[in-house]
Amino acid sequence: MLQYESELEISRILVEWYETYKRELPWRETRDPYIIWISEIILQQTRVVQGLEYFLRFTERFPDVASLAVAEEDEVLKYWQGLGYYSRARNLHAAAKSIMERFNGVFPENYKEVLSLKGIGEYTAAAIVSFAWNQPCPVVDGNVYRVLSRLFAVDTPIDTTKGKKQFAELAGMILDPKNAGTHNQAIMELGALQCVPQNPDCGVCPLKDKCVAFASGNVQAYPVKQNKTKTRDRYFHYLYIIYKEQTWMNRRTGKDIWTGLYEFPLIETDHAMDFSGLCETQAFRNLLGDAGKLSITQGLSNVKHTLSHQILYASFYQIEIEQVPESLGNYLSLPCRDIEKYAVPRLIHIYLEKLNGNL
Ligand code: ADE
Repeated sequence: MLQYESELEISRILVEWYETYKRELPWRETRDPYIIWISEIILQQTRVVQGLEYFLRFTERFPDVASLAVAEEDEVLKYWQGLGYYSRARNLHAAAKSIMERFNGVFPENYKEVLSLKGIGEYTAAAIVSFAWNQPCPVVDGNVYRVLSRLFAVDTPIDTTKGKKQFAELAGMILDPKNAGTHNQAIMELGALQCVPQNPDCGVCPLKDKCVAFASGNVQAYPVKQNKTKTRDRYFHYLYIIYKEQTWMNRRTGKDIWTGLYEFPLIETDHAMDFSGLCETQAFRNLLGDAGKLSITQGLSNVKHTLSHQILYASFYQIEIEQVPESLGNYLSLPCRDIEKYAVPRLIHIYLEKLNGNL
């Protein structure tokens, strides 16, 4: 690819800034593609400060592809507990198995092969091969979109096919192919620390003399988003049913959210409903109609939980029952004190934490 002096100049400035201001992070101390992979998947999920703790725990328990591949899925999910998006953990697990089978346990170096692994998209594949082997693949994540859109004042929406293509080209154009790994880390770090979404301190930015948006005083207008994604509202009512220190849970299956995770018996409605309304529903009667007298000991309602395309409004009811109805035979029965051994969605984790602090 033809590269102009000014394009390489951008990379030189980025890298020089990075060497001075970068955060010292454990995944930057290694060339091990497995460790880099784990860190990238965790960082898609959470901020660096919180991710660090998960990263250290996860890589201590699963230090390499082989240890992850032979683990039980439930244990892998347990180490992911609290991060949300458990499909990412399941994909990590499946990809580790696939590396064992298809590549004899050796992490592939070829970009296309890396991309073929479950849960690894273009961004992650580029991050792995550039950080581990310095291959000239540009990364484009949210930080990079922001830096590039401001630097070149690109107003193509980043959430469109056209935008994705254009930004990938720009990222490739300014990449120094001889120094791809550090360049990629540097542009992401600039986005994370300097070219931040709100009120960036452009006066101290190393790229201020080259930034078109800064020159025209409208940095805040970038990046542009089309934002057409629709969200769906759902109403979840969880029943933490107790009988003599025993409770019931269900492992989610199917294609809906949270496959493989455990939850309390759930009644979903298509509109908001209070407890007396809930008691009138057929689903509630089917579940607890034969449970004798019910005593509600704790409740938590209207917990708003946002997922990528859904907003959940959840209520939790702790209900002591007088006798065990047959309907609960469809659920896993367990002692209440064992709940914490099961991987649960973040929403339920939040409830349990509140419950431990007595709401
Ligand atoms: N966010 C995504 N990847 C990252 C990395 N390697 N270092 C810091 N933050 C990141």
